[in-house]
Amino acid sequence: MCGIVGYIGAQPAVDILLDGLTNLEYRGYDSAGIAVNVDGQVELYKAEGKLQNLKDIVNAKKSHIEKSTIGIGHIRWATHGAPTTANAHPHSCNCGRVAIVHNGIIENYKELREKLEKQGCTFRSQTDTETVAHLVATKFAQTNDLTEAVRLATKELEGAYALCVIHQDVKNTLVATRRNAPLLVGIGEGEYYVASDVPAIISYTKKAMYLDDNQIVTLTPDSMKLIDSENNVLSQKIETLPWEPVALSKMGYKHFMLKEIHEQPDVVRNVLSGKLKAIDEPIKLNEVTLDKDKLKDLNRIQIVACGTSLHAAMIGKYIIEDFCGIAVDVEPSSEYIYRKTITDKNTLVIGVSQSGETADTITAVRQAKKQGSHILIVTNRPDSTMAREADSLVPVNAGIEVSVAATKSYMAQVISFYLLAIYMAEVKGVNNFTELKHELVVLPQKIEKVLAHKEDIQTCAKKFSSAKDFIFIARGINFPTALEGALKLKEISYINATGYTAGELKHGPIAMLDESMPVLSILMSGKVYDKILSNSEEAKARNARMIALTDSTDEKLNDLFESIIRVPEIDELLSPALAIVPLQLLAYYIAEFLGKDVDQPRNLAKSVTVE
Ligand code: AGP
Repeated sequence: MCGIVGYIGAQPAVDILLDGLTNLEYRGYDSAGIAVNVDGQVELYKAEGKLQNLKDIVNAKKSHIEKSTIGIGHIRWATHGAPTTANAHPHSCNCGRVAIVHNGIIENYKELREKLEKQGCTFRSQTDTETVAHLVATKFAQTNDLTEAVRLATKELEGAYALCVIHQDVKNTLVATRRNAPLLVGIGEGEYYVASDVPAIISYTKKAMYLDDNQIVTLTPDSMKLIDSENNVLSQKIETLPWEPVALSKMGYKHFMLKEIHEQPDVVRNVLSGKLKAIDEPIKLNEVTLDKDKLKDLNRIQIVACGTSLHAAMIGKYIIEDFCGIAVDVEPSSEYIYRKTITDKNTLVIGVSQSGETADTITAVRQAKKQGSHILIVTNRPDSTMAREADSLVPVNAGIEVSVAATKSYMAQVISFYLLAIYMAEVKGVNNFTELKHELVVLPQKIEKVLAHKEDIQTCAKKFSSAKDFIFIARGINFPTALEGALKLKEISYINATGYTAGELKHGPIAMLDESMPVLSILMSGKVYDKILSNSEEAKARNARMIALTDSTDEKLNDLFESIIRVPEIDELLSPALAIVPLQLLAYYIAEFLGKDVDQPRNLAKSVTVE
């Protein structure tokens, strides 16, 4: 979603701001802007569309703009007001002396705007953010102190925000604060950086301080002061960021998505490392602090997540119920938070999120925490807001994922659920997982085999790329694979794709089948194989164009299916972890063939930080 970068120091701010915004581009956005202070004047530069549009404007005046050694920058994903230049950040006040960038949503912006308009403020945008600019300017007029102005202004704000503010009259000072939206300060030599996410600043510094809710930081080139909302000075917790800049390189691949798909064998090895030491040893999950007796007493598990993480959670449900015999409900976080949920101290609530910043999932786990449940977070970002809500943590170790369409983080979540389910079962005294553990260990080689035959999938993608709709069918543990395969295709190719349980096909969706409709059957060996085969026959009888994704070598499939994507044989229980790889590739190659913006699909953001 939106991204923030700030800089104060001795270097030209503009290069650092644009570089930082470039490294946040992957999050998805629709306009961009920066504010700098040149020769004592705050200047705003903004553009709608791609960051390149802003770069073109800025580069035309580069020798002027680069005189500024302080600045703030933003990429915006529109929530209030269309993605236009006027609505792009930074925003300012009547006199133009304040500049402000904001992530999040100011929920009471309408009331604030009304009040400020009555006081004479003239609004130039439809955004909620502009109210904050006017509010800070009003408070500054009363106090002549930028930190105090921000502190007083935030007291009137409801909702979520990460804010970065500069003021023309307070040269060499940058103020930043947050509530329910991430923000960190990067620390250099005689310079400071502010960012909503690590990639924006990692190539400049690894020394950083994360802000907690309601903390306000005041930065000058050689000082940093941290206070709380009551003006108490706080001690600063400086840490070293565990990130490498190389993660942001495509490493020769055409797109980040393709690179990330190819990283999956190593991702599996990483996730298993240290947790699955030997197939005859119990799984070790050190960050799961749930007392073993309490774990045995659990009567219910609820898993909350969104999008791709929700699909990983659905696989989690299947295997936890199978291995541990505990009832598991999976629900989209955005539904969970708007109903009366029944949880207690014997309920484990699991939040699953790649980014750890998805607003709905954060709200859902906070809601459950209030009701006394133990909160376990499965996330790729142990430094995230959600991770900080966790009683127990399962860090999934996929490394930074740049492409908006999640691939390797899904793999890491799915493998983490296998480890968690086996861990819980072993605590409960169930110990028959030697074969499955062996399958987990050899899984990376099987994924490598699929990747080695990607040309076959590319050929299949080309063949079906003109389809307007796509249906994915599966049963049992691979139903979430069908949903995830369909989601990947929708997200990056904009083809209308839907996943169905194969048995449901004849209860309605079959009406849509004709010679223009591809139906992809996920036909992995195991107890539902024959059933899906029958469902595929039914679809074929309605003239659908049949594609199989299978680990079977049965030659008879050639009569039924127009295209067959083959994967190595695998235990049905682990098959979702292998079957998803060709579906990711299929979606990728179709989108690439159609010339779509694979890594930054339209309308999507990498982390959805608004409810
Ligand atoms: C996945 O390809 C999507 N970008 C999206 O569905 C994503 O999984 C969802 O927004 C949840 O994000 P999270 O895992 O960061 O919470």
